[in-house]
Amino acid sequence: MAALNIVVGISGGIAAYKAVSVVRELVLAGHDVHVVATSNALKFVGLPTLEAISRNPVHTDLYEGVDEVRHVSVGQAADVIVVAPATANTIAKIATGQASDFLGNTILATRAPVIVAPAMHTEMWQNPATVANIETLRSRGIRIVGPESGQLTGSDSGPGRMSEPSDIVAAVLETVVSSRDLVGRSVLVTAGGTREPLDPVRFIGNRSSGKQGVALATAAAARGADVTLIAANLEVPLPAGVRCIQVSTTLELQSAVQAAAKSADAIVMAAAVADYRPAETAQSKIKKRSDSSTLELRLEENPDILRGLAAESPESQIVVGFAAETEPQDAALLELGRAKIARKGCDFLVINRVGWTEGFASDRNTVIVIDKVGDRVGEASGSKLSVAHRILDLVFAAR
Ligand code: C5P
Repeated sequence: MAALNIVVGISGGIAAYKAVSVVRELVLAGHDVHVVATSNALKFVGLPTLEAISRNPVHTDLYEGVDEVRHVSVGQAADVIVVAPATANTIAKIATGQASDFLGNTILATRAPVIVAPAMHTEMWQNPATVANIETLRSRGIRIVGPESGQLTGSDSGPGRMSEPSDIVAAVLETVVSSRDLVGRSVLVTAGGTREPLDPVRFIGNRSSGKQGVALATAAAARGADVTLIAANLEVPLPAGVRCIQVSTTLELQSAVQAAAKSADAIVMAAAVADYRPAETAQSKIKKRSDSSTLELRLEENPDILRGLAAESPESQIVVGFAAETEPQDAALLELGRAKIARKGCDFLVINRVGWTEGFASDRNTVIVIDKVGDRVGEASGSKLSVAHRILDLVFAAR
């Protein structure tokens, strides 16, 4: 395994002394380990110990390295974050997204997988507040390792003892391997909506924000893919860690896609592309006409980029199209989807319902995925990022 950037978060419980072994094992396995310790953690284990063992500076103070924006850069750079031990207090803070210390900021700022190894007394572990917080963490995809049942700090014993360091290390490495399933793959994603200029100040466009396409690029990059994003007029920031090419019109999008398509293992056409463009683009602003109450615009057809790609795509390449439809019923949506995939010839079609209030600007999405022959291969509903991961699972499953 290539060396990973691993953040070990340590919170203030007696099991912090065992976190030293977690750090040691990860360093000896060749990884670059960065410790983020809460101030309470440092009452249990000394900063020099953690710095010597991790071979890196330990982060605790939110106001250190401000010029390097370290409160977010540590989380952004991480391939995986493990919090061991995670006290009831730290678990509650993660569940509620608190950013009052360095560890909270680091976890909020990461897109990497997060693993939490709880450690506390049995009563605290079984308290409904902790039970609910753990459920929240799980529902967000955070992996919980342990706790074990056994001897606790006092004379008591029961569930709450932190898992053994070697088990935590194994869980960390296993999570990274399974979550980096697209290493060595190259993925081309289009996102946003094209704009077709009428004159220097006006265009024909659509309501696509680009959020789903950006989520797809982000998810593929997090899973290790080499990602190129062709971004058409995004309403959201360009994602980090992804090669971005900005375009505006359908013809620009077409040439950018064609240039990048050959080297792609998968092409995901999430952009909303205009089917027509103005037949003429005026070189100066079209003036209001005093002699007529109507203005006619003549449109000409744009090339169907997806259909062209699918026709030329080699057997090994996965081509995914999107269909945004306004039909309220699933059956009608599927019917339209089947007709569309037959017309386009792509390998998969992601069908989603859009409308005045659904789909476009929302942070959530609901989609149905069908394959080349029109069979339903799966569906997804949730945040656009979770939908993106599910789409990648489905389309890469067969390869
Ligand atoms: O036909 P329709 O526009 O609904 O198809 C949507 C799918 O086709 C999307 O994946 C979109 O990116 C792609 N498309 C295209 N070229 C067009 C129109 C749509 O590649 N001219």
